[in-house]
Amino acid sequence: MSTIIASEVTPSTDLDFLPLQGTDYVEFYVGNAKQAAFFYKTAFGFQSLAYAGPETGVMDKVSYVIRQNKLTFVLTTPLRTNNAIADHIYKHGDGVKVLALMVNDATDAWNQTTLRGGKNYLEPTVLKDDNGEVVLSGIHTYGDTVHLFVERKNYNGVFMPGFRKWESEYNPVSTGLLYVDHCVGNVGWNQMNPWVKFYEDVMGFRNILSFDDKDISTEYSALMSKVMSNGNGYVKFPINEPAEGKKKSQVEEFLDFYNGEGVQHVAIATANIVETVTELHKRGIDFLKVPDSYYESVLDRVGHIDEDLAPLRELGILIDRDEEGYLLQIFSKPMEDRPTLFFEIIQRKGAKSFGKGNFKALFEALEREQDARGNL
Ligand code: FE2
Repeated sequence: MSTIIASEVTPSTDLDFLPLQGTDYVEFYVGNAKQAAFFYKTAFGFQSLAYAGPETGVMDKVSYVIRQNKLTFVLTTPLRTNNAIADHIYKHGDGVKVLALMVNDATDAWNQTTLRGGKNYLEPTVLKDDNGEVVLSGIHTYGDTVHLFVERKNYNGVFMPGFRKWESEYNPVSTGLLYVDHCVGNVGWNQMNPWVKFYEDVMGFRNILSFDDKDISTEYSALMSKVMSNGNGYVKFPINEPAEGKKKSQVEEFLDFYNGEGVQHVAIATANIVETVTELHKRGIDFLKVPDSYYESVLDRVGHIDEDLAPLRELGILIDRDEEGYLLQIFSKPMEDRPTLFFEIIQRKGAKSFGKGNFKALFEALEREQDARGNL
């Protein structure tokens, strides 16, 4: 389609020049999408939604789309070597390639962001089939990760053109996962502030919270983090960088094994964390464990909570409070053999923060894992 070149675009005077309706999907580049889809369906309770591959006219890759409530994952694998997807997997292992954001106007999103210095990944492109059209555009962010802007207001097919409905007789029950709460990026030494500036300048995000190495340091390793949020708060991207500690930071371990910057974790909301985590645990998902002593003093720190402490303690669910309420959260072990991407499960009960009160206990748990891998 025709695109407006940057010099012809006047920056919008709206406060929010990049209105986002939320996360559209998260796309993972993986070595074996068929098995990854089976894993996510089985362990996390996703349902089959759509498929693209040679049978739908896509000759070089296969993608499986799975969904649970408002959470959509796309799992993509290349069919041959010597292409960008195969190179991505060779370099990074399995990981997140695309954080796709829902917009009303993907052409304007591309114009507004590239005008402000965003690096083009995909010029506005219209995909059509009998069910209407989807407009996609995209820009690069940290590492090899990209943001796609997805405009689907004129589309009523199952996912997007190029995909067909994926009917499956294997439909494991949901584990109660609802939507993406936030996605965290790990960036290199001294790269946090440049990426904060990118999200401010190029995407109109605001820095809503900052953690320095005094907040997030344990005896050995440290990191710094700033949380970036879009105007309506639907999209939140914390950015971490390593900090100097006595030994190797967990962010540094990620950067080593991911071979560069990338998505460290995707936090997924649930309305009942005890039920969700009980189910995930039953289905084989391993979580980080904090010492039992955490639960001896936690209520002194966070005050009254609605839940019984016993199941939280048994499952290893962490609790934190801010001015607006409290939250319950837990972190999985990495989803790959490389110590890279993991998931957070989070239930917010008013709190809009990220669990700062849990950092110390959590990072000590992470360090025990790092130590077991010989990477501390
Ligand atoms: Fe998180």
